Amino acid sequence: SPTFTVLGIETSCDETAAAVVRGTASGPGEILSNVIRSQVSEHAEFGGVVPEIAARAHIEILDGIVAAAMKDAEVGWNDIDAVAATAGPGLIGGVIVGLLTARAIAAAASKPLVAVNHLEGHALTARLTDGLDFPYLLLLVSGGHTQFLMVNGVGDYRRLGTTIDDAIGEAFDKTAKLLGLPYPGGPAVEAAAMSGNPSRFPLPRPLLDRPGTDMSFAGLKTAVRTAAYNAAPLSDRAVSDLCAAFQQAVADVVHEKGRRALDIFCEHHPDQPPVLVVAGGVAANSAIREKLAELARETGVRLVAPPHALCTDNAAMIGWVGVERLRLGPVDDSRVGPRPRWPL
Ligand code: KG4
Ligand code: ZN
Repeated sequence: SPTFTVLGIETSCDETAAAVVRGTASGPGEILSNVIRSQVSEHAEFGGVVPEIAARAHIEILDGIVAAAMKDAEVGWNDIDAVAATAGPGLIGGVIVGLLTARAIAAAASKPLVAVNHLEGHALTARLTDGLDFPYLLLLVSGGHTQFLMVNGVGDYRRLGTTIDDAIGEAFDKTAKLLGLPYPGGPAVEAAAMSGNPSRFPLPRPLLDRPGTDMSFAGLKTAVRTAAYNAAPLSDRAVSDLCAAFQQAVADVVHEKGRRALDIFCEHHPDQPPVLVVAGGVAANSAIREKLAELARETGVRLVAPPHALCTDNAAMIGWVGVERLRLGPVDDSRVGPRPRWPL
């Protein structure tokens, strides 16, 4: 069976990452190296990612990160079958840096370039880690995205529902900011919620009273702001209670909308035992995970959650898309340009 070895590069947000992954004609892949450098400390004082700072940091360190990934994997350019890089969606400065670097490496090494949609990386990670077969239902929950995707095959995705305003991670980050918690907000809100009482502040469950799988989280964040204003000055206890209430509201929405997305999935694939995959940085949240596990138990669905380090932004998932594309035949994306917006 042929093997495909791909160098992956990811620079679409505030992580500079390179990895080498390998796969055969079918089944899961092997991660030969996975190097990632987060810029969290560069952005923390601004309370969010600053695009210009991110782009400059990618320029400064990407070459070194690529060299480290090749060294860790103990491979040379001759062992590589393609170079894959995120071509979007994301912050345009970073995407340009990663894609042009990959294009230069590919040209110098006479290897094909694979231009990868970042969301496709998240969507196919469970095949890298668990060798999942198509189709499956994916819940992608990150700082920039919140959507249910029916993953039918490589390049064959159907969005079943999405947020009509803020992504869940974004809502966590904004909630943290307005409560005076540090960036990134997700882990901070979860930590504060640990000792909180989720019932003290009643918060809405946006769009649950309406049919369909679309979600909304901007109003929830505003409800937290109003409750915080009314309870001012905020004690540590009140902050914890607000965080717990917010997290519970999000988890309840995900639970119910997930049930509806599963129904649609099963209508399309009545003969398949349904599998639900959760990916993205927010997948780390234990309250949300618990609700999804509950949903899986209630519906007899298998729940797959790739390891946390592969759920958040990384280059192994980008290299893996390269493997998936090579499996299907020759690839030449050398003319594909950076795309700040690129729906799947
Ligand atoms: O997938 P990711 O690393 O980057 C992209 O957005 O693509 O996700 C980052 C997001 C941030 O909004 C962060 O606050 C959120 O994931 N996050 C969490 C948790 N850990 C990270 N949200 C809730 N609970 C967490 N434990
Ligand atoms: Zn991402």
